[in-house]
Amino acid sequence: MSGLKELTDKRLLACAAFVSGGGIVCDVGTDHAYLPCYLVKNGVCKRAVAADVNPSPLAAAKENIQRAGLEDKIDTVLSDGLDGISPKGITDVVIAGMGGELIADILGRGKAFYGARFILQPMTKPERLRQWLWENGFEITCERACKEEIYYTVMLVKYTGKNTEYTAAQSYIGALEGNTDDDKDYISKQAERLRKKGEGLKKSGSTEAEKYMQLAEKLDRYTKQG
Ligand SMILES: C[S@@+](CC[C@H](N)C(=O)[O-])C[C@H]1O[C@@H](n2cnc3c(N)ncnc32)[C@H](O)[C@@H]1O
Repeated sequence: MSGLKELTDKRLLACAAFVSGGGIVCDVGTDHAYLPCYLVKNGVCKRAVAADVNPSPLAAAKENIQRAGLEDKIDTVLSDGLDGISPKGITDVVIAGMGGELIADILGRGKAFYGARFILQPMTKPERLRQWLWENGFEITCERACKEEIYYTVMLVKYTGKNTEYTAAQSYIGALEGNTDDDKDYISKQAERLRKKGEGLKKSGSTEAEKYMQLAEKLDRYTKQG
């Protein structure tokens, strides 16, 4: 990529893989604008909007966009979530590298964008994001785990207006099919997290402990079936 390092981050590449071809992508919380630069430079999308709530990451984004010679194809916007962005022409919205609850909050305030395709990559509390999505008329159509230094998950999401019922275990698995090593390892890590929480609760004498131990077992069984 001229003036920019190649995009080698597997997490961002996994987000890029879900972007539809030929549209206009809005990257919320863009930071250095690595993703929109990569998408436009490689012809995955024709234009992009790189948005961030903080002036300093947005300045870094502008610098990288200029360095890559993409000022005519990528607009930068100072915006809290989708609040300050026009939905006109936007086909894909990427919200990556933020907490699951913040992503849910941004989506909840972004109704004007509900016709777009959403690519979501939560850094924390993915189960809370999935629960919010299913309770608020969104469908997770596809999901992939990937490993950079730690495991991440990337979700492809669309708004249907229909809520989805789910079990507690499903909120930790989402739409992961469990048929790749990364999917299996990601789910195993979730099981480990739940088991640790269960053990902690057991030590403190909480009656909630067994619930977490059983959930961990369910997740372990899922990876063995996959
Ligand atoms: C960890 S960086 C992630 C950058 C990039 N999206 C990625 O995944 O590598 C999080 C970015 O989100 C921005 N951010 C946090 N809250 C935001 C909000 N409510 N609206 C827009 N951007 C936000 C931060 O300023 C920061 O630049």
